[in-house]
Amino acid sequence: MTKRLLIRTWGCQMNVYDSERMAEVLAPLGFGPTEAPEEADMVILNTCHIREKAAEKLFSELGRLRLVKEERRQAGRDMVLAVAGCVAQAEGAEIAARAPYVDIVMGPQTIHRLPEMVARASRAGGLVLDTDFPEESKFDHLPEARTQQGVTAFLTVQEGCDKFCSFCVVPYTRGAETSRPAAAVLAEARRLVEAGAREITLLGQNVNAYHGEGVGGLSGLVRALAEIPGLARIRYTTSHPRDMGDDLIAAHRDIPQLMPMLHLPVQSGSDRVLQAMNRGHTADEYRRLVDRLREARPDLALTSDFIVGHPGETDADHEATMQLVRDIGFAGAFSFKYSARPGTPASRAPLQVAEAVKDARLAELQALLAEQQRGFNAARVGQEFDVLVTGPGRHPGQIAGRSPWLQAVHAEGPQGLEGSIIRMQAVSATANSLTCVLKDSAKPLPEQHAA
Ligand code: SAH
Ligand code: SF4
Ligand code: F3S
Repeated sequence: MTKRLLIRTWGCQMNVYDSERMAEVLAPLGFGPTEAPEEADMVILNTCHIREKAAEKLFSELGRLRLVKEERRQAGRDMVLAVAGCVAQAEGAEIAARAPYVDIVMGPQTIHRLPEMVARASRAGGLVLDTDFPEESKFDHLPEARTQQGVTAFLTVQEGCDKFCSFCVVPYTRGAETSRPAAAVLAEARRLVEAGAREITLLGQNVNAYHGEGVGGLSGLVRALAEIPGLARIRYTTSHPRDMGDDLIAAHRDIPQLMPMLHLPVQSGSDRVLQAMNRGHTADEYRRLVDRLREARPDLALTSDFIVGHPGETDADHEATMQLVRDIGFAGAFSFKYSARPGTPASRAPLQVAEAVKDARLAELQALLAEQQRGFNAARVGQEFDVLVTGPGRHPGQIAGRSPWLQAVHAEGPQGLEGSIIRMQAVSATANSLTCVLKDSAKPLPEQHAA
């Protein structure tokens, strides 16, 4: 009889990737997916610790699941309850204390040991805690076959971070920076393409610091991936401005498969704050970097992350951030109020900014960023570009896809074109999507095998 597994995922794409891999590790044990907690023989909450809210959500979710677990037990069925990800790594002991009904607590680097943990949990009862940073890499112990079938796929190539920005928990939760060997990445990419992937996004907390064995950095990896037949689109995220080398900039010029969109978090436009954040560059260095990128790839769109209200941030610092945004012009961005994270240097800094001040700064910044995003989408109207068809649209006769700039696309068109790349023209835009019409005969290109 198959058992049912429910995985809920918060946080960054690396958690999405890890969740997929956890499902794959557990499949040989007879676990198939479910969405309903009442049906689940096992629930995994894959958590994020980057800002406060995520941990609060975890504990309220655990409270609800406790009741379901209790009901199932009364009906003679068990539920293995596991907490994974970065909250588990950082607050394993607190989870054990506040939610003693949890069976497994594991960090991001031990997911390959899940089968063993499940066995231990059902044999012995009590908490199984595994938040090691093991010597062996999880990537070498995860199953080879990727069951994931989509047209777009994530592939983790680098993990952890040694940058220690003042505000950030990642170096503590994901551990030191490590890169996977190129051969392993390329083999996984080929398997994904065989399973129907046409677009692969390379993932890492500091993906452009990639230094895996066998290729010269991320640019070398991108060049090698571009040789894989059938892989039409390559993206990577998240990059640090400090690691944006000439070779990678050149790759944006030379490699058509590398999509014209780059997520390049800047966090602040004030040199004082950038220094306090330990980001290792100035606002003008960022501006010059963007100039060089746009020279290499004129249609390159930029997205970014911002933090308002870092300790010590003044009105003048905030205005410098606003000015940077006006100067660059972003196609989209995530912006956050600074939130003090336990164990980070900024959480102990004097001059914490008042909540009301943070609220006002965030509102002002978000209004500008939203206006730029609308402007970017509106500027596509009338343009022609390639769209990767990802599936049927919401309404009958519609297809859904992705623009080169990661915008959601809707169009009237024939079904069954998943995985094809089709020339389209944008006819209207909203804040988050484009409506397009097909420009060519909508035949799959010869080297494409429609999924
Ligand atoms: N490696 C990436 C960031 C990963 S975390 C980089 O170097 O830019 C994703 C985003 O969360 C960050 O870019 C930052 O904007 C935000 N963030 C991280 N820690 C935060 C904190 N303590 N408070 C508010 N936002 C934070
Ligand atoms: Fe966090 Fe900074 Fe590392 Fe990004 S570069 S993951 S913000 S420490
Ligand atoms: Fe969150 Fe961990 Fe990713 S803290 S953003 S899930 S690395």
